[in-house]
Amino acid sequence: MKQVTFHQLKVFEVTARRGSFTRAAEELFLTQPTVSIQMKQLTKAVGLPLFEQVGKRLYLTEAGKELLDTCQDIFERLSQFEMVVSDLQGLKKGQLRISAITTAKYAIPRLLGPFCQQYPGIDVALIVTNHEHILERLRDNLDDLYIPSQVPENMDVHCHPFLDNPLVVLASRNHPLAREPYVPLERLNNESFIMREPGSGTRQAVEQLFEAHNISIRVRLELGSNEAIKQAIAGGLGISVLSRHCMALEGQAGQVVILNVEGFPIERHWHIVYPKGKHLSVVARTFFNYLQSDGKRVLEETALV
Ligand code: PGA
Repeated sequence: MKQVTFHQLKVFEVTARRGSFTRAAEELFLTQPTVSIQMKQLTKAVGLPLFEQVGKRLYLTEAGKELLDTCQDIFERLSQFEMVVSDLQGLKKGQLRISAITTAKYAIPRLLGPFCQQYPGIDVALIVTNHEHILERLRDNLDDLYIPSQVPENMDVHCHPFLDNPLVVLASRNHPLAREPYVPLERLNNESFIMREPGSGTRQAVEQLFEAHNISIRVRLELGSNEAIKQAIAGGLGISVLSRHCMALEGQAGQVVILNVEGFPIERHWHIVYPKGKHLSVVARTFFNYLQSDGKRVLEETALV
């Protein structure tokens, strides 16, 4: 392995990710034979095949998978080193990868505004997804920081509550329940309901509450997006439960209103999470500190909390 070059490892990582010499060559602006020769030399140095070809696609062998993990560790450590060097030079530079829960999409981009202005050398990749996918990403160690609502169970993580994220019942302004000053929970029995998809934390919280109180709703529609649910409520398809943050941009005269239902809001919080033992990069640590020290104030200034 001593003869293996950094360039070969880079070519290998791209080939493994793209599943083809041709596509790797395109991404790296190399010719296909160059990629293929580099991979032959790397395979020889390792002493075991790294890929197997099925049809047109390349698949990693056991040794290939191990090497890919190793490459990713090396590249990660190098990028962290670059950030440390920038930090020593008095600059904060590098990539910040965040996965945030669907409801945090109303807040995190707003928070990134002032942060990126303060640190123009930081590039951000933000993934917005549901609870189950955040947990998958956390398990696969794909990002620097994770922002779920629920504390991940059975996982060894640092978890810091960050901001309130209450769940409320929403209905169309014209819905009969919208005229009631107070709605006992049992009034929701048999109501047409619009539900988030399986894997959603909102869905899990709603199902738990309704089950604990023997409420049986009629799920009329299942949708994978908070915004689509709001449109369906406005369209008269039923009521739903979403985070109050989903109403952030809704004016007083909006078509969707919050009902005053017994047992609501369901109190929840966004958390900042990262695996125990993970060495946070300078950039991730800077964003973490910023969220904790300035997050609430910045959102209050933009009237989002
Ligand atoms: P969900 O989570 O997108 O998985 O429903 C939302 C939340 O927990 O705030």
